[in-house]
Amino acid sequence: MNLRIPGPTPVPPRVLEASARPMINHRGREFMGILERVTRRLKEFFLTQNDVFILTTSGTGAMETAVVNTLSPGDRVLVISIGAFGDRFANIAEAYGAEVSRLDYEWGKAADPEDVRRALAADPTIKAVLVTHNETSTGVTNPLEDIAKVVREFDKLLLVDAVSSLSAIPVRTDDWGLDFVATGSQKGWMVPPALAMVSVSPRAWEAHAKAKMPRFYFDITAAKSYLERGQTPWTPAVSVFYGLDLALDMMAQEGLENIFARHRRIGQFTRDGVKSLGLKLFADERFASDTVTAVKVPEGVDGKALQRLCEDEYDLIIAGGQAKLGGKIFRIGHLGFVSQEDVKAALDVLAKALPRVGFSAR
Ligand SMILES: Cc1ncc(COP(=O)(O)O)c(C=O)c1O
Repeated sequence: MNLRIPGPTPVPPRVLEASARPMINHRGREFMGILERVTRRLKEFFLTQNDVFILTTSGTGAMETAVVNTLSPGDRVLVISIGAFGDRFANIAEAYGAEVSRLDYEWGKAADPEDVRRALAADPTIKAVLVTHNETSTGVTNPLEDIAKVVREFDKLLLVDAVSSLSAIPVRTDDWGLDFVATGSQKGWMVPPALAMVSVSPRAWEAHAKAKMPRFYFDITAAKSYLERGQTPWTPAVSVFYGLDLALDMMAQEGLENIFARHRRIGQFTRDGVKSLGLKLFADERFASDTVTAVKVPEGVDGKALQRLCEDEYDLIIAGGQAKLGGKIFRIGHLGFVSQEDVKAALDVLAKALPRVGFSAR
């Protein structure tokens, strides 16, 4: 099977085997060693000296962790949304009582740092900016470095959803001054779902000291005090820790910059391949993502029928569109344990399947 969705992503067989090891005491010395090693290694991939915590939750839990640990009900925040996951960040902040100002963009477009500057200049009461780095629903990567520059000029807190970018697309946490960064294990990390990783800057800790939003499971004070003892506050997904321990080994061997280069190369290969089939990209190509490619469903083609045919007859799993993009796009994931051959195989299937659902390139 060729699983080409933007998460969960394929897991190398060695990592799957490692994940199947017997359970150990999560409050014992062996787990302490794994937790210490994995946390230290993750900092290298986050490119940070900040605290990093590993939570047993999905990416959404990591986003919630960012919100509830740094904000109080009534705080005004600016949410930059270019798609479904930006909307989700806004929904989480609203659910916990933040006053949300929105900077919304047409789906398929990236955010413009100049708009962020205008929004922050217009409202000095804004305390934090929430932004999606790589919008998986539209296949767009925001210019995070430039957005972060603006947020730093205004000295606001910057909370980043890097769920589908970190580990595959550069996220230079310390160089760019990112205060809270959230990612999830099932994306570029070559392990199954269940773990989320977050980094917390000194500025975020200062905000945390005053933050009044209700929290319990996701309280980073608990995460920090347990980590000092080599533990997590609550029972962790031990099996995924085993896998991550090995996956990080493999990633270190490949090298961070090589991993970025591989994703850039495969991203471009995917976009070129899609266009050569006569299909159109959904994203503004200047900001097209190197981890997921969104493709317009051609006129007269039933996107669902295409997905079903690919799955049933060719063992290729692609993703559909989310929310208002249902039926309008399909998406090809190319992050983590992926090679150019995997994408080539997917493109070859599309070339065969598309005419069968009524598509002709000309
Ligand atoms: C950009 C982005 N943010 C957040 C999430 C939510 O992560 P999860 O589904 O693991 O809760 C995802 C994953 O689907 C994502 O791609």
